[in-house]
Amino acid sequence: MRLDVVTIFPEYLEPLNVSLVGKARARGQLDVRIHDLRDWAHDKHNTVDDTPYGGGPGMVMKPEPWGEALDSVIASGEGRPTLVVPTPSGKPFTQQLAVELSEKPWLVFTPARYEGIDRRVIEEYGDRLDVREVSIGDYVLAGGEAPVLVMVEAIARLLPGVLGNAESHRDDSFAPGAMADLLEGPVYTKPPEWRGRGIPDVLLSGHHGKIARWRRDEAFRRTVVNRPDLIERTDPAAFDKKDREM
Ligand code: ADE
Repeated sequence: MRLDVVTIFPEYLEPLNVSLVGKARARGQLDVRIHDLRDWAHDKHNTVDDTPYGGGPGMVMKPEPWGEALDSVIASGEGRPTLVVPTPSGKPFTQQLAVELSEKPWLVFTPARYEGIDRRVIEEYGDRLDVREVSIGDYVLAGGEAPVLVMVEAIARLLPGVLGNAESHRDDSFAPGAMADLLEGPVYTKPPEWRGRGIPDVLLSGHHGKIARWRRDEAFRRTVVNRPDLIERTDPAAFDKKDREM
């Protein structure tokens, strides 16, 4: 998969050199290219923002540098990328969207600063490309770079061969399947006793059926406590008799 990010803070994206994403890049599973928007600003101060039409606080990112930057990035590859525009006004970023985006060959991210990008840029590329305006949550950050880090990490770990064990996202919270819509339950490792605390006996029983049932019960319990909204929006057919008794 190819990923391009156009930003006025290229250094903000340095975490993409580290850990899971960094390793995926080193292995050639991910081709990440970071671009400085100011390379496409032409006045002596490399200006990328201006005051908003209609007045109001803050500044708006000018369309010309974005247009030149995106034309240049798009022309540098084969086919058409999917454009991902981080904005608190976008559709929610969910595991389902992460899965969908992980299946695209090429994503271009456009993290904005200030009050956002001149609307005409979104319209212009919306006529030619699949453009997704995406929010990572109901809070306002100072810019879209942190949301890009969040989204890239969620997407990269879904790419084939990126996680060591292909099974390890099967039980993720929000993963599709039998535990869909339940949060992941607690996990334990050695030692068997730590500060006087043991681990649930069932996990030592070697009984796979009982372990699976226990994991589902714990997932259900945790979801009821932390995210009752997920239970409410789940099809009742997804729950079994034991869930109803809990
Ligand atoms: N930019 C600022 N806040 C944001 C958010 N919550 N999601 C995506 N982009 C943003």
